Amino acid sequence: MCGIVGYNGKGNNTLRILIDGLKALEYRGYDSAGVAYKNNEINIVKSVGKINELEQKIDFDIDTCMGIGHTRWATHGEVNLTNSHPHHVGDVTIVHNGIIENFNEIKKELMNNGYKFNTTTDTEIACGLIDYYYKECNDIKEALVKFMDKVKGSYALGVMTKDSDTIYSVRKDSPLIIAKGENGNFIASDTIAVSKYADSVMYLEENIIAEITNDSITLFDKDLKEVESNFKLIDKSVDNTDKCGYDHYMLKEIHEQPKVFRDTVSPYLENGIDSLIDTMPDFTKYNRIDIVACGSAYHTGLVGKSLIEEFADVPVNVEVASEYRYKKNFYDDKTLVIVVSQSGETADTLAALRKAKDDNIDTLAIVNVEGSTMAREADVLLKIKAGREIAVATTKAYSAQVAMLSLIALNLANAKGNIDKEEIKEILKDIKELPVKIENTILNSDYTNIAEAIYKNDNIFFIGRGIDYALSMEGSLKLKEISYINSQAYAAGELKHGTISLIEEGTPVIGILTEEDLILKTISNIEEVKSRGAVTIGVTNSDINSKFDYKIEVPKVHKLLQPLLTVVPLQLISYEVAKLRECSIDQPKNLAKSVTVE
Ligand code: M6R
Repeated sequence: MCGIVGYNGKGNNTLRILIDGLKALEYRGYDSAGVAYKNNEINIVKSVGKINELEQKIDFDIDTCMGIGHTRWATHGEVNLTNSHPHHVGDVTIVHNGIIENFNEIKKELMNNGYKFNTTTDTEIACGLIDYYYKECNDIKEALVKFMDKVKGSYALGVMTKDSDTIYSVRKDSPLIIAKGENGNFIASDTIAVSKYADSVMYLEENIIAEITNDSITLFDKDLKEVESNFKLIDKSVDNTDKCGYDHYMLKEIHEQPKVFRDTVSPYLENGIDSLIDTMPDFTKYNRIDIVACGSAYHTGLVGKSLIEEFADVPVNVEVASEYRYKKNFYDDKTLVIVVSQSGETADTLAALRKAKDDNIDTLAIVNVEGSTMAREADVLLKIKAGREIAVATTKAYSAQVAMLSLIALNLANAKGNIDKEEIKEILKDIKELPVKIENTILNSDYTNIAEAIYKNDNIFFIGRGIDYALSMEGSLKLKEISYINSQAYAAGELKHGTISLIEEGTPVIGILTEEDLILKTISNIEEVKSRGAVTIGVTNSDINSKFDYKIEVPKVHKLLQPLLTVVPLQLISYEVAKLRECSIDQPKNLAKSVTVE
């Protein structure tokens, strides 16, 4: 979380570059923002709220060639101007993404050495520590080496000192890129922040110090020996941030799902099932799969579990990464650990991946962002082709992750001889037709009338069985994430074991009914809530008549692909509800797109 950007160049549009960069990084947090720039001395401008607020405070005529900027997702210390970055202590000014875990201990030591602090942030302490070492050794690179040895936790830093015209950067467990352009050099949490101005980029490795002047970038290891840099051209096509006429990125991204599905699966199916075998790893050597992820990516794991267990007969254990990383794991050399992540940077998922790797377990990453840490560190990468997802609430990346897990299930089921040629033919036909069916599902139903009926409620329930329960969880998360309505997902049969007491006159219950063998069972559960006053909404691929107050019918396709259609109404109902409630749909409160702290 938090986004940082820095520029050292020859032009005098530094403040524009920093603000543009921060706007592109706003998905990483939007509690407050600030910039520090140099013209004779270091000046700092900060504001609470989104980048627009900061932009209004900035005088773009100021002549400055170097600066650093920050957009904050608060971890330590409340959201206010004092706690906003950049922080400044003594001769040092920094922006920071990450968490300094031992900041309390360091704070005491620094206070014993006469330092005084004004904020409640860990970052101000990090800044004080760098200043302390800088004064001690009179060399900022040496000070950064000492800083790296002392602090525990995660950081990506942009550092400026009073006396030099150079920006320094180091990182650990938080992402950071360095980039070059015709008119200067950059640092940023993500390439998107600088792709408008820079031409080539590299990921800064851990334990390396980057020294960035207006015409050079030099990297040093911890012995302060120079190391080689490895820049690659920036692929500007992936950084299209145009809303293309849609009111919100979320809506645009929902509409992109047919293309995303096609782009994600087609490289694996150019010659039908044979190319799937050739392009995917051999999964048959594993007798157990652990899928580890957070949030919606965790929900894709639950869908994957249903499909892999049913079609490939391999037990799948799905766990939330923040739990998995600290618990006893029962994996062995016949286990494959799959991490699923849109960003490829989620701190807990990354830690789970590293834990499995440390224990010599085979790992595979399903990731959207090219070059992200998980994409680089997993043994095998299966890249989804969702393109850049800007809305905090994931839609198209969720679908692409589900599509990839469906391909894994299909591959494994085929390799084990669990499905016959006829069924494979049927699946391949459905795959071909799916983009159009997704499109029709987006366009053909009226989601606004359902939204109108439920948006004033304080509690909404999602119920389903089997794979529909996994989809209920995603529907419920989507709704609460962007509309701030308290919603819960329940296994349909479980509701009567306590939670049904919350159903009262008018409580909306959204039932998901696509599992052929279980539809009648879920219908009974729908009847149970209906007779207690619930407003019932059915999302189903069946023409079964039940006492739904509202019904959305999605096309019926092979089970391996059904979730990709079923999820669409859930996304659109959430979107329409959030719109009626006038919520900040693309940037919901308290959230950030990339969660790089644990
Ligand atoms: O980047 P990741 O896929 O690892 O992110 C995981 C979750 O933070 C993410 O899916 C989150 O739950 C979404 N905002 C939900 O829409």
